[in-house]
Amino acid sequence: MSALIEHRSNRHAPTPIEAIDTTHLAATRKRLSAAQRSWLDENGFDAKPGSVCLVPDTGGKLARVLVGVDGQDSLSSLAALPLMLPVGEYALAPESVALDTELAALGWALGAYQFTRYRKPKRAAATLAVSSETLATLAPLVQATYRVRDLVNTPTEDMGPKHLADEVKQLGKAHKAKVREWVGEELLEDNFPTIHTVGRASHRAPRLIELTWGKTTAPKVVVVGKGVCFDTGGLDLKPSDGMRWMKKDMGGAAHAIALASLVMEAKLPVRLTLLIPAVENAVAGNAMRPGEVVITRGGHSVEIDNTDAEGRLVLCDALAYAAEQQPALIVDFATLTGAARVALGPDLPALFANDDALADDALACSNEVADPLWRLPLWRPYRKLLDSYLADFTNTGTSRHAGAITAALFMERFIPDGTPWLHLDTYAWNDGDRPGRPRGGEAMGLRAIFALLSKRYG
Ligand code: BES
Ligand code: ZN
Ligand code: ZN
Repeated sequence: MSALIEHRSNRHAPTPIEAIDTTHLAATRKRLSAAQRSWLDENGFDAKPGSVCLVPDTGGKLARVLVGVDGQDSLSSLAALPLMLPVGEYALAPESVALDTELAALGWALGAYQFTRYRKPKRAAATLAVSSETLATLAPLVQATYRVRDLVNTPTEDMGPKHLADEVKQLGKAHKAKVREWVGEELLEDNFPTIHTVGRASHRAPRLIELTWGKTTAPKVVVVGKGVCFDTGGLDLKPSDGMRWMKKDMGGAAHAIALASLVMEAKLPVRLTLLIPAVENAVAGNAMRPGEVVITRGGHSVEIDNTDAEGRLVLCDALAYAAEQQPALIVDFATLTGAARVALGPDLPALFANDDALADDALACSNEVADPLWRLPLWRPYRKLLDSYLADFTNTGTSRHAGAITAALFMERFIPDGTPWLHLDTYAWNDGDRPGRPRGGEAMGLRAIFALLSKRYG
């Protein structure tokens, strides 16, 4: 990962970056020469968050970079710099205002990302020198975030169910994990009816991909990700605006795969199972129809009220299968509902949990690593919004109220009492460019849950 490099004293000294805020500007100016102070004035540098000034020495060479930061947001503080500063090696100056230097360095690396599968990089990223410990901590997190972004950014033609399977197989190979999959009719033979029902209309067969890793005696953790490689909505077809970005509907799978890579890389003492139901929600003559009833793996009959609520359908068979293994924890990631975005906006994944202590732990970890989550309730009385007149329940009700909650309640039906479960309804996407958060696919909640697993099992 070239955006971060280990600091070594025998190399050419890196250019110092001094992070300051408006209250420290006067003190910083005192340490500069009269010419440099004049340069700051000429450039109107005010040390407000986001402001940057490249300060020359007397020979006109770059001597120092001043960057205005918000001390409350270490992650963003340096994130705009790697693709803004001249290519070269930099280091955070000790005179800088108090920042969480690890988060600041993480932000730098996340800000260096470019998706280069279909075009050349716009430019090379500048490099930040950090301690070897910081590098060791951050490198896997950066790789995992890049992996999520790459997977989500890749268009469906190059990121179908089989591509997700290939990704898991490659990961399995790297960590000597076992990978198996059920493809097409095999899903019916081994009783994964909802995954097959959702995915059968695509020319690319639906699959359930499973990776297992770790000592059989270790606590079982199952990570599940919604792998809808494209969501047309099915026969309840989405309008163009709603369909435009639905290549990202495998964002949950991308998170789950990345989390599995982090767990294995860190060799956490858990028995890990990764489950990816990978399908396309397509339109064809054999597509599932509204009004159809499917008997799920969990044994509940589900009336398909809306074919666009396909995520909870593919997930419910995967969750039922996960629960059969009586795990210590199930975590799922899914780009499940537009309603979660209406409630919390794009940057805050909704967290659902059937265990308060577990939820508190997850929120504390999320806070610690600056990877926000917001808890929404599994409000049982809303179960009646999913009442069906002929089946155990429907996949969506007539009411659009509390859509993120009813989706979570649907999935909760497949989690046995006493099995700890976390569900993240995440956007996995940045609508625009911001420092450290480039437009396109994004990991949201990944570092928080990895921190939680590290804390609980590490
Ligand atoms: N993949 C979508 C949810 C989604 C849409 C996530 C946009 C992020 C951005 C999901 O499969 C879906 O279509 N959900 C429907 C459910 C509805 C039919 C009850 C939704 O949210 O509108
Ligand atoms: Zn949908
Ligand atoms: Zn979907």
